[in-house]
Amino acid sequence: METIELKINGRKRTLHCLPNATLVEVLRDQLHLTGTHVGCDTTQCGACTIHVDGCAVKACTVLAVRSDGSDVMTIEGLAENEASHPMQEAFKACHGLQCGFCTPGMIMSAVDLVNKGCALEPSAIREALSGNICRCTGYQNIVAAVMQGASEMQEQSS
Ligand code: FES
Ligand code: FES
Repeated sequence: METIELKINGRKRTLHCLPNATLVEVLRDQLHLTGTHVGCDTTQCGACTIHVDGCAVKACTVLAVRSDGSDVMTIEGLAENEASHPMQEAFKACHGLQCGFCTPGMIMSAVDLVNKGCALEPSAIREALSGNICRCTGYQNIVAAVMQGASEMQEQSS
């Protein structure tokens, strides 16, 4: 077993894991942060997207030991003071989800692209979210939700 220290959703945690444990396994199985989903386990679907040190990563292909010392945020850490994040609200308002399986990963990727200052036209959003697959194929509403969430994030930060 290896010992690692992570800051997860603002809280410092010391964890023990196998050298080959992935970050998503540690989050789900040890910490019960099951909002981070596993759809493929091969870096294709984006359901496991979280933020590590402020950047979106697919947690199914990051070894937990490689993230020792990192600041990790999962979908559970996005809301502040029990108020949903503007991107979460926008997904609700724009019906940007159907079964919801892809939604946590979509939202984490969408927040990352806004934080990075990416262009926010529909075509650029589709390109930026190409690593996140929605099996329900609700892409039209997802793009609308990201545009609305992005404008609310920008308003809040101005
Ligand atoms: S489970 Fe990680 S990309 Fe699909
Ligand atoms: S809402 Fe069902 S997979 Fe995207």
